[in-house]
Amino acid sequence: MKQTIIAPSLLSADFARLGEEIRAVEAAGADWLHFDVMDGHFVPNITVGPVVLKDVARAATVPVDVHLMVREPDHLLEAFVDAGADLLTVHVEACTNLDRTLRHIRDLGAQPGVALNPATPWTAVEPVLGLVDLVVVMSVNPGFGGQGFIDYSLDKIARLRGALDALGSGARLEADGGIKPANAGAVAAAGADALVAGSAVFKAPDYGVVIASIRAAADAAR
Ligand code: DX5
Ligand code: ZN
Repeated sequence: MKQTIIAPSLLSADFARLGEEIRAVEAAGADWLHFDVMDGHFVPNITVGPVVLKDVARAATVPVDVHLMVREPDHLLEAFVDAGADLLTVHVEACTNLDRTLRHIRDLGAQPGVALNPATPWTAVEPVLGLVDLVVVMSVNPGFGGQGFIDYSLDKIARLRGALDALGSGARLEADGGIKPANAGAVAAAGADALVAGSAVFKAPDYGVVIASIRAAADAAR
């Protein structure tokens, strides 16, 4: 079994001390850094783009998992890959030509991912499961950190785990939103093998304690 990936979301970090936050969370055991990009259209919030990603990727020693919450992101893919995205995820709801977009990401040299919102059925991504290295199940409505986990995401995670296994896919299945030590076990038991955690990590006094608790709960459940 592959090790569970813990990906702290920089959305809840202190952006005035981003370099320190990256070093601290890596020292605390982060496997990936999750980088949330919001455009103010696909989601009702705006965050950061390739300019900030470039510095984050330079500071990072672990893979950077870039989550584009951006409508029609095709014209931005190259900029994000050039800036250092290792994994680059787009939303099924945001792409008119999803197949083309995912192939383009791989051609650019990054690992393609596809994300789906809570109200989007898992079958929306079924046709493209063979094209991706990452499937991201949103367990909150995207746009903000610190929201509560939506319980029906567990069923979607389980169905996607079944579909990926049936395909023999090596893609990671990531849950994003509302993950904390208390629910990490249930999320991993459903089949997720990558867990994003923003506020649970960055709002805690000791990042290492939270990351270790999430990892222990997930590993025990898988
Ligand atoms: C939500 C983002 C998440 C978010 C997770 O729009 O995609 O990655 O930062 O934050 P928490 O873990 O606080 O729900
Ligand atoms: Zn995210």
